Amino acid sequence: MTSALPLHESAHAAALQRLLRERIAAAGGWLPFDAYMQIALYEPGLGYYSAGAHKLGAGGDFTTAPEISPLFGRCLARHCVGVLQALGGGDVLELGAGSGRLAFDVLTAMAAQGTLPGRYMILEISADLRQRQRQLLATLPAALAVRVEWLDAPPAESWQGALLANEVLDALPVKRFVRREGAWRELGVVVNAAGALGWQDGVAASSVVNAIDALALPADLPEGFESELCPLLLPWLGAVTACMQHGVALFVDYGLPRHEYYSAARNRGTLRCHHRQRAHDDPFAHPGLEDITAWVDFTRVAEAADAAGLDILGYGTQTGALLGLGIEAEIAAVPDEPTRIRRAAEARQLLMPTEMGETFKFIALGRAFDAPLAAFTHQDLQRHL
Ligand SMILES: C[S@@+](CC[C@H](N)C(=O)[O-])C[C@H]1O[C@@H](n2cnc3c(N)ncnc32)[C@H](O)[C@@H]1O
Repeated sequence: MTSALPLHESAHAAALQRLLRERIAAAGGWLPFDAYMQIALYEPGLGYYSAGAHKLGAGGDFTTAPEISPLFGRCLARHCVGVLQALGGGDVLELGAGSGRLAFDVLTAMAAQGTLPGRYMILEISADLRQRQRQLLATLPAALAVRVEWLDAPPAESWQGALLANEVLDALPVKRFVRREGAWRELGVVVNAAGALGWQDGVAASSVVNAIDALALPADLPEGFESELCPLLLPWLGAVTACMQHGVALFVDYGLPRHEYYSAARNRGTLRCHHRQRAHDDPFAHPGLEDITAWVDFTRVAEAADAAGLDILGYGTQTGALLGLGIEAEIAAVPDEPTRIRRAAEARQLLMPTEMGETFKFIALGRAFDAPLAAFTHQDLQRHL
């Protein structure tokens, strides 16, 4: 698989393969998939996010909304301005800031709207992406650049304002499970008889069975049904929002409410890998050189919010949210026609149901915040969660 890769990539892939095999052996020959995903994505110096692969945007492996168009950041800036104005000021905290493009666009647009955060904090797990964020954000005007700070852990002191996370929930490691003879088994990773990494199901620990039982899945899911769940979601969401005293945490990602996520129609689950703009479902093809993601169960996000003492302020499609946030006005305000035409084409990618418009959802979680949010004035689908 790695022979057609450039030399530095095949050396990197070989080093990660060696480490994965060691960890599989150390675990007794079978490694739970979430442990595999954690290593493949985040192992310091070797994981996909930790090391130097280009990752986002043109020339990378996948393209996110902020990389498609500055309109996305401008709409999120409108959201942040609304939150900060309702609170009488505050900060922005962005989780998993990728190339830094969203931070750049949000700060620029907030400045144009006359409301800036005191601080624009970034919590980023990847040393490589932090470095790229620093380079890009250093090109902001000084009055904006000085507001940006990088955190090593979620804020430990009270703060108020807007938390943003675009395509971060889908990057948290997931467990995989399968139905066999009416019971749940956990899917793990082994070195198979051919010497390659592969799937094998094993006895699910009682904590995993309890977590699956808590999903209250339909009894008629077919034999062989496979899916995912993210054990980190509850503790992680609790930790990143713990010190947000007043404010709104906005998570944007591809996903579904639980009754659609765990349905017979989706019996192979939602795991996807992204390599050089091609999506596939084999997480053993290029470990360390490609992204591995799973869709988000938004009902579970709502449950995690409840456990963290947060209120659900709105849930809807990306189309509904961006229209509510004034994407049409943002396009109309572009002064020159060629750019306006280009922005309109980008907006179609963000909004069309066949592109990102319906697959991607916005969910807003609030603490001590009761002002209306523009993102959900067009559409609020909370009842579907
Ligand atoms: C799919 S990329 C999205 C990047 C960016 N938000 C965008 O929309 O272009 C996922 C981002 O989340 C970061 N990330 C993943 N897990 C994280 C965690 N536990 N804490 C902070 N950042 C994390 C990754 O390093 C990466 O920057």
